[in-house]
Amino acid sequence: MPQIAQIALDGRVSEGIQHYSTHWQIKDLSEDNNVNSRVEEYADVVNGYYDGATELYEYGWARSFHFCRFYKGEAFAAALARSQHYLAAKMSLRPGMRVLDVGCGVGGPAQGMARFVNVQVVGVNINEFQLGRAVRYTREAGLEEQVSFIKADFMKLSKQFEEGSFDAVYAIGATVHAPTWEGVYGEIFKVLKPGGTFGVYEWAMTEAWDPSLPSHKELAHKIEIGSGIPEMRPLRKAREALLSVGFSIKHEEDLAEYPDEVPWYYPLEGKLSNAQTAWDLVTVWRNTWSGKIITHCGLWVAEKLGMVPKGTWDVGETMRIAAEGLVEGGKRKSSRLTWSGTALYPYVSGDLSETGSRVNSSSTSAFKRVMTL
Ligand SMILES: C[S@@+](CC[C@H](N)C(=O)[O-])C[C@H]1O[C@@H](n2cnc3c(N)ncnc32)[C@H](O)[C@@H]1O
Repeated sequence: MPQIAQIALDGRVSEGIQHYSTHWQIKDLSEDNNVNSRVEEYADVVNGYYDGATELYEYGWARSFHFCRFYKGEAFAAALARSQHYLAAKMSLRPGMRVLDVGCGVGGPAQGMARFVNVQVVGVNINEFQLGRAVRYTREAGLEEQVSFIKADFMKLSKQFEEGSFDAVYAIGATVHAPTWEGVYGEIFKVLKPGGTFGVYEWAMTEAWDPSLPSHKELAHKIEIGSGIPEMRPLRKAREALLSVGFSIKHEEDLAEYPDEVPWYYPLEGKLSNAQTAWDLVTVWRNTWSGKIITHCGLWVAEKLGMVPKGTWDVGETMRIAAEGLVEGGKRKSSRLTWSGTALYPYVSGDLSETGSRVNSSSTSAFKRVMTL
């Protein structure tokens, strides 16, 4: 008899969390024969991961689940907000626009965008548990008139929304979860108004990453397994996908490339000396060895007591692996070794042509790369 999944009232599915790490060969991360099944089962990979990881993200990071650049003297929360505002500014968002947030997490960035630019934001997310929290936090913030949420798979956006129904679309650290970039970017292209802008902070491996080398493959797998990502891919593929579905690239930059005094991965590294405020110290401490031991033991107890679903502890363990991979990749880059493998954030937008129409797929000549800063 087929097993019926137990879905908790908050939307979490315990079987999915318990099954999560079996999508990888965790014993030897330099090997991988499961990539095709992970890509096919992307929805299970993502939901299993976020059902287990969401509360840990909120505990160890914030309600905005993304990386950003850090400046000395700037609080962690302010840096996260600045990176959202930067995206809004680059996309030229204007008050009153209807904007889609693709893969909206628990709604931190959607609230940030709504407040900063006074836009109407619709957040989509495949994960029910996160959506419940997003709705609650948005109500608590008094933003429910401006920010709404819908459960949807971003690979099927055009089934959920009318074509051309958004003035702008953004995605922050979310489309890396897609089974294919062509698929998700193609859907975004459809629901975006002609001439509209798509802004994305994407995760990709650098061109120096060579998946034929076991150590490079292992690094990508560490990031995948601990972040719920079916497959890490090179940045080149993101560019190709954007162009192939009809976008032109107006602006792109690698936010991991800057020689920042406080590197983007410092909180994952648990480097207390980089914390900027007393509260940052608490956040960063949670990623130090002592902080990790306490989380590790606390989570184990919480799971035994039934306070979190079974399998949550396991997902927490995979997150430690990802943190290692991300820091390793970030460091290799900053120490200027020949390759690095993490967190590239090109910023990309649709073309605002004079006629206001989106460019078609043959317009690769419109490709324009502008480095700012
Ligand atoms: C790293 S989180 C980023 C969340 C949010 N953008 C933020 O910065 O706080 C990735 C998000 O993408 C969502 N996601 C992944 N795959 C998805 C899919 N196929 N459809 C819709 N949402 C998806 C996840 O559930 C999660 O909320």
